[in-house]
Amino acid sequence: MMNNTNIFWHKPGVNQKDRIILNEHKSCVLWFTGLSASGKSTLANELDKHLHSQSIRSYVLDGDNVRHGLNKDLGFSPEDRKENIRRVGEVARLFVDAGLLTITAFISPYLEDRNMVRSMFPQDEFIEVYVKCSVEECERRDPKGLYKMARTNQIKEFTGVSAPYEVSENPELIIETDKQSIEDSVLQLVDYLKTQGYL
Ligand code: ADX
Repeated sequence: MMNNTNIFWHKPGVNQKDRIILNEHKSCVLWFTGLSASGKSTLANELDKHLHSQSIRSYVLDGDNVRHGLNKDLGFSPEDRKENIRRVGEVARLFVDAGLLTITAFISPYLEDRNMVRSMFPQDEFIEVYVKCSVEECERRDPKGLYKMARTNQIKEFTGVSAPYEVSENPELIIETDKQSIEDSVLQLVDYLKTQGYL
């Protein structure tokens, strides 16, 4: 990696506070984490639609999409996943600075990596949402046929099968997608954002 010497930080003319005043809501990141097929993307997009309909400025950063562009050079080794999460953390920081309610949907299976992104934000701007679903149920859903491929060794290091998922002890929110409906989950998230004063 190159050293970035002789680089200076330029103070922005419009800052996050100014944007929050304009938007009439706060900005933060809702960091969804959980197994593949646990429902992260579905939930992220349903929440995004709901917020949009309420005139709230939101945006979804999704693993499957970001890996087609910004992070297409990365695979699924622990090192590549760390870099994936680090870059997404930095992008999320820009989006939060831009005043957006930023929703990220990445497996982000390693505790250390999630804590790394958490440390990039002020405490009240990072909300970890554990999208909880049993491996059995994820495997039953298997929308992309990836669990099947992982079981037959056609994909290596597949989270939940041949690579770990490390559960956080204290996520701000837990959503159990094998027990509650999508509508209830969206309500739970919106309720949290309201009671905590983000909206
Ligand atoms: S992360 O672990 O680095 O956070 P990310 O969320 O970006 O993963 O990407 C996960 C998606 O990549 C999965 O939903 C799945 O479609 C696909 N994928 C391909 N190979 C793997 C693998 N070995 N482990 C997990 N997901 C994989």
